[in-house]
Amino acid sequence: MSDILTIPRPDDWHLHLRDGAMLQAVLPETTRHFARAIIMPNLVPPVVTGAHAAAYRERILAAMPEGADFTPLMTLYLTEDTDPEDVAAAAASGLVTAVKLYPAGATTNSASGVRDFDKVRPVLEKMAEIGLPLCVHGEVTDPEIDIFDREAVFIERVLDPVRQATPGLKVIMEHVTTKDAVDYVTGVDAGLGATITAHHLVINRNHILVGGIHPHYYCLPVAKRELHRKALVAAAVSGDARFFMGTDSAPHLDGAKESACGCAGCFTATNAVAVVAEVFDSEGALDKLEGFLCRNGAAFYGLAVNSGSLTLTRAAPQVFPENVATADGPVTIFDPARPIHWTVSPDT
Ligand code: NCD
Ligand code: ZN
Repeated sequence: MSDILTIPRPDDWHLHLRDGAMLQAVLPETTRHFARAIIMPNLVPPVVTGAHAAAYRERILAAMPEGADFTPLMTLYLTEDTDPEDVAAAAASGLVTAVKLYPAGATTNSASGVRDFDKVRPVLEKMAEIGLPLCVHGEVTDPEIDIFDREAVFIERVLDPVRQATPGLKVIMEHVTTKDAVDYVTGVDAGLGATITAHHLVINRNHILVGGIHPHYYCLPVAKRELHRKALVAAAVSGDARFFMGTDSAPHLDGAKESACGCAGCFTATNAVAVVAEVFDSEGALDKLEGFLCRNGAAFYGLAVNSGSLTLTRAAPQVFPENVATADGPVTIFDPARPIHWTVSPDT
């Protein structure tokens, strides 16, 4: 395969941009490579209504770097009080592209998430009726369940029952981290997709815990053992259109990560495309890269592939900056723990 590849500008189907000084600092890292992204609504307070999403979208557009060509695809944070009509109006106006389900307490800023899934049934039914997809953080929060098992148990206890009870609901199981999730997704014919992050393609739980604790590798769902990482790589490079890129780039200030109770989230916006290219290259699957980065997700969401292109070039291993500076302090960029030979340049 060639050392130069040109692909359409990709999409990031799961991104945290935050707000204020953090938004200002991290947005250019995404707009450099990605043409669109699904914007996570877990701000404090969360983006719950159409009015919140419209205001957040304006703040993102105001923070755009000069000359950037980027469309934020907004989401609403599903709560037990979400009004189905507000969701339907926000979807009909083109303001929101999906609704996000966080089980209450599952991850960063998820306190307003769902405890009783029956309470959100009318919203899910409305979404199925109007074809609005549900993005799911797939982990149970039951303290009895081991953190490494929380994704697999979620499939059985929540995801499968919700899908069975709501025929026609389009669901994206986000940032899958287990072979169990890959097997579940590949066992469903229609209406279920999954995003995979760059970091879960290259790290396993040893990277977090061996030789000292490495807080910048800690995210949720937490990376699992190697057999699961291999299943994710196999799914990503398979060409199966149910799998697509969602970086889950989740910036936190270094002080909040390097702490006695460090926040979950890896900041990967800067190097996610290069890391994924490296993985596909080492698997001999560069011909499937465009599907994973640019086509599969767009097809699942019913959107056109982006215009414009990126050129990827294989050369000597590249060195990424260590961090991005924000007005409140640095944010460490994900270290892929392996040499990355691909450089990514936007075409003009
Ligand atoms: C995300 C964050 O920091 O908002 N953290 C993470 O570890 N992925 C939340 C999330 O997507 O779970
Ligand atoms: Zn996330």
